[in-house]
Amino acid sequence: MTNADLPPAHSSGPCSLTRFLIEEKRQGRINPDLRLLIEVVARACKTIAVHVGKGALGGVLGDAGTGNAASINVQGEAQKKLDVIANDVLLEANAWGGHLAACASEEMDEPFPIPDAYPRGNYLLLFDPLDGSSNIDVNVSVGTIFSVLVCPGDAQQVDTQSFLQPGTAQVAAGYCIYGPSTMLVLTIGHGTHAFTLDREQGSFVLTQRDMRVPEHTREFAINMSNQRHWEAPMQAYVQDLLAGSTGPRGKDFNMRWIASMVADVHRILTRGGIFIYPWDRKLGHARPDDNVDPTKAGKLRLMYEANPMSMLVEQAGGAATNGRERILDIVPTHLHQRLPVFLGSKAEVAEVTGCHRAHDAAMATQAAQA
Ligand code: AHG
Ligand code: MN
Ligand code: MN
Repeated sequence: MTNADLPPAHSSGPCSLTRFLIEEKRQGRINPDLRLLIEVVARACKTIAVHVGKGALGGVLGDAGTGNAASINVQGEAQKKLDVIANDVLLEANAWGGHLAACASEEMDEPFPIPDAYPRGNYLLLFDPLDGSSNIDVNVSVGTIFSVLVCPGDAQQVDTQSFLQPGTAQVAAGYCIYGPSTMLVLTIGHGTHAFTLDREQGSFVLTQRDMRVPEHTREFAINMSNQRHWEAPMQAYVQDLLAGSTGPRGKDFNMRWIASMVADVHRILTRGGIFIYPWDRKLGHARPDDNVDPTKAGKLRLMYEANPMSMLVEQAGGAATNGRERILDIVPTHLHQRLPVFLGSKAEVAEVTGCHRAHDAAMATQAAQA
């Protein structure tokens, strides 16, 4: 534990997630339904952790689908067995509690309304059931990301449109990382807090209250193999990072890329850094402003990857943009829309966002003069 104030001065013993949520409720920061929702998601994550932890022994590695026919999700990506298992665990756990109107997932084309057999509540849950799928078979950290919205209007009439709310409307967001230890990182809009799974007790225990992302950093996370597909301001920004102490930035930078957003963001929440998945020509558009198809405007998904991670990072004092605007302000038009993502240490996110804006301004001036 790193916080000197853990557990709270007026209490004794470790603070479980349950106790943390009860105390938040006493502070008037959470209502019973949202509390139940978070407990249910946490319980589902524990089940997913058990599946992930079994690895080859559980027969959970490899692709979903039968024979030679791979199972393809709405993203056009081949599903792993664990993508499907994690999705089913989250749906099953959340179906009957009476706290939700519907779920939406990376692995499902359309939202999943709570079946008529159960009462419907007022919340909407979005998730990336298994993030970092390419790492499953090589025993590297993966995770689950989730976002919670309030259902606008009648829960019986819930549809895709009900989900299309900006990230600022999220009432809770979090992820669970299945790494050397399993951790749940959570925000309900009052800071970002980390809980570590005590495997013997079976409960999440608060191990860091109020995580803080350092404002400045010397570490960036990006898949450099895509460099040739980036737009001009990204090329210029990364060139300056790579130039190190003798370049315009006047300092050396280190690089990390785990290829699990959950693991990369967890490192950034812990010790700072910037996570970047920029606009990329090979994803399907000729130019970044060629905004015809929002499902091809980047690799990462707004509603269940970028929005929850942006809320967690902002709540920890960091920043998140798509290179031009704050991610949490984006009004979605598609459930599975994609976008470029820049998040982490505030000063570094400002730097790269400034590069993109300066580039746009220069292009606009050039166009006006032509
Ligand atoms: P998912 O496994 O949910 O499809 O997400 C994968 C994402 C993200 O976790 C990671 O940052 C990124 O894809 C890695 O992309 P590359 O393989 O292109 O580096
Ligand atoms: Mn993902
Ligand atoms: Mn996924």
